[in-house]
Amino acid sequence: MSQTASQSPAVPDPSTLPALRVAVLGAGTVGAEVLRLIAQQGDDLAHRIGGRLEVIGISVRDRSKDRGEHVPAALLTDDPSALVREADLVIEVMGGIEPARSLLLEAMAHGASVVTANKALLAQDGAALYEAADDHGVDLYFEAAVAGAIPLVRPVRESLAGDRIQRVLGIVNGTTNYILDAMTRTGLGFQEALTSAQELGYAEADPTADIEGHDAAAKASILASLAFHSRVRLADVHCEGITDVSAQDIAAAARMGRTIKLLSIVERIEEENGERISARVYPALIPHTHPLASVSEAYNAVFIEADAAGSLMFYGQGAGGAPTASAIMGDVVSAARARVRGGVGPRESRYAELELIPLEELRSAFYVSLTVQDRPGVLAEIAGTLSGHGISISTIHQELIDSGADGQEGRAHIGIATHRALESAMTASLDMFSSTATVLSIDSVLRIEGE
Ligand code: NAP
Ligand code: HSE
Repeated sequence: MSQTASQSPAVPDPSTLPALRVAVLGAGTVGAEVLRLIAQQGDDLAHRIGGRLEVIGISVRDRSKDRGEHVPAALLTDDPSALVREADLVIEVMGGIEPARSLLLEAMAHGASVVTANKALLAQDGAALYEAADDHGVDLYFEAAVAGAIPLVRPVRESLAGDRIQRVLGIVNGTTNYILDAMTRTGLGFQEALTSAQELGYAEADPTADIEGHDAAAKASILASLAFHSRVRLADVHCEGITDVSAQDIAAAARMGRTIKLLSIVERIEEENGERISARVYPALIPHTHPLASVSEAYNAVFIEADAAGSLMFYGQGAGGAPTASAIMGDVVSAARARVRGGVGPRESRYAELELIPLEELRSAFYVSLTVQDRPGVLAEIAGTLSGHGISISTIHQELIDSGADGQEGRAHIGIATHRALESAMTASLDMFSSTATVLSIDSVLRIEGE
């Protein structure tokens, strides 16, 4: 007999459901939005969880600041240590390494599950957090730590757990994508584009972690650890930021039908004697036809290539209070359900312990921009240096800068794109360029990806 509406089990009154004590560490851009979602969607969340989220305290530095209706002053505390000891679930959105690290360890030691958006902490000391979660039988969730609202951690950690991930390639930092996109659209230099990003609120007052690539590198370390079942720390990720990308580089890329993006790349490299992995962040030229080339403004996008699944693409808002809070709340529901119904979420998986391949042993295509003397034989000398290191040129572009005066030689700009070559061969070629009078300056060295 089919079930009718009158026969379905009654939907319980949320107020009758068991309460889960929630501590929120931080009420800034993300924390305030988390608290808004908890306040506005309390009943729905209670039904989905099977228990009520009861915020028992909110830790901030400045208790005197008015934070709006969803951050009640009565719940503010400047004693986060006491707060986490009372909680079933701790949401950490304060950022930084300390005191966040000590507070999360203390929370787990007292039996609380943890949801954090703190990629810097996970990339630097994720091992300590995983171990504490294991030791105390609690959950550790961190979807918001990589690419804000975009579901990426869960697909890599859970949905693709039965597959074999080969590569994750993406734009995981919105600030730098905004800056590079502004440079591409308007011809602005890096500094002017950064100022515009700060004025519009995309870049922070101290944008170092974004523009130097550290934020993207932290996310790459998290993704590599999950994708390859190995511990990859922040220090293992080769990291170059975008501060040296010039308007000339952007124009040269456009001339070659390419655009420059800050890419995070983690990949499995199969070799004769087994396999190793690579994790790296750098600005790279990608073809205009590549799907990542059209990712504009502060958006993020990530490709995953897996043996059975093939290519998957994820796209969306990688930052911002509400999008990041959405990812956090998904984790909160998972962790809270486990508290109510029993069971634990995924643990750290690092059985593979794959070794990292040093950058010098990788192969990439390059774009090299040089200022050289304008005299006969210069191109031959440069081509000879590259070919002497096994590097083959794919295209070359030369432009006169000035033709010299008073018997002085003129100067020319040369832009060279190469075929794929060993990083060590390029380093050796650049060393030779630095020590020859012919090359007046090495203006840029960028990799070419996505072909
Ligand atoms: P935020 O706006 O600077 O807010 C930080 C909050 O934590 C503030 O309320 C601050 O208190 C509090 N806090 C900081 N240090 C504290 C301490 N020592 N003791 C007590 N409270 C402290 O930061 P956010 O942008 O919300 O970012 C929070 C976390 O989310 C970071 O880990 C960040 O990397 C991550 N995340 C952010 C985004 C984003 O778009 N913003 C996206 C993804 C992930 P006061 O208000 O009193 O200063
Ligand atoms: N600062 C980061 C970005 C957001 O610009 O993408 C937090 O991950």
